[in-house]
Amino acid sequence: MSDSDFISGLPKAELHLHVEGSLEPEQMFAFARRNRISIPFPNVEALRAAYSFNSLQDFLDIYYQGADVLRTEEDFRDLALAYFERAHEDGVAHAEIFFDPQTHTARGLPFGVAADGLLAGMKEAEAKFGLTSKLILCFLRHLDEDDAFLTFADAEPWLDRIAGVGLDSSEVGHPPSKFARVFEAAGKAGLKRVAHAGEEGPPEYVLEALDVLHIDRLDHGNRSLESPELVTRLARAGMTLTVCPLSNHKLCVVDDLAAHPIADMLGHGLRPTINSDDPAYFGGYVADNYRAVAPLLTRDQLATLARNSFLGSFLDDAAVTRHI
Ligand code: ADE
Ligand code: ZN
Repeated sequence: MSDSDFISGLPKAELHLHVEGSLEPEQMFAFARRNRISIPFPNVEALRAAYSFNSLQDFLDIYYQGADVLRTEEDFRDLALAYFERAHEDGVAHAEIFFDPQTHTARGLPFGVAADGLLAGMKEAEAKFGLTSKLILCFLRHLDEDDAFLTFADAEPWLDRIAGVGLDSSEVGHPPSKFARVFEAAGKAGLKRVAHAGEEGPPEYVLEALDVLHIDRLDHGNRSLESPELVTRLARAGMTLTVCPLSNHKLCVVDDLAAHPIADMLGHGLRPTINSDDPAYFGGYVADNYRAVAPLLTRDQLATLARNSFLGSFLDDAAVTRHI
């Protein structure tokens, strides 16, 4: 069996997927047409050609602009369902997806347009593909904590259908401690807590995510490797890292996929998983991300990464046991 078939056949969970980042250029044009909006690109090819980034911020600028075509519950439902269909083809049995409500409420959409649309897509994916999912509300860290609190208040009627909160957007200059109080409130409300840290930001941001935000899972975490003490701590805690190889390459977090630190992470006793982050922008869905690092790994290690994805999920123990 080829590596590629082996990877597709591995049952896996995806734990780091921004649903707005699964908006394919073709879909962007289709939604724009449906909503009678113009896009500042003449066609799909020109749009795709603009997907060349030197940093996280370069990417975020175009990503927030792209999300403007999402206007109705139906758009969010269609977006989610298209992602789940593609993920199902890659052997994804369970996905925990992020959404950025502030990107949409800032444009005047009520919180429920995104939330209800995504929840409808999640329900349909379970019925159609047997793919289960959970929804994680991310706060945009370039905005202030008061704005995050307003979003958390907006989310109140949906909290029984939201598994956790996350923290994303521009990392450097926006440390996790900026969101200490809203993460504390989310914890008190019984939500799981995750945060992007150590993607571009230093190991100190990972420490803050652990000590101040009390995260249950670490998104990216690459720069943790710069601190041996932090690596030991993450390994001892059994902390899951949601690593995104193609994203790391496209956003210049790693210079070369052949030098991706995934094997080092496993070697240090960490618990990494493989994920796609923003597949429409970074050139591949989850199986492509496994394939991108497969030359660095044995098949046992690839299977460990897939197993880690269930162990690090927010599924209950019985469901995890069924999957692994
Ligand atoms: N939002 C979408 N993708 C992101 C990433 N890789 N880092 C931070 N924020 C994001
Ligand atoms: Zn991300």
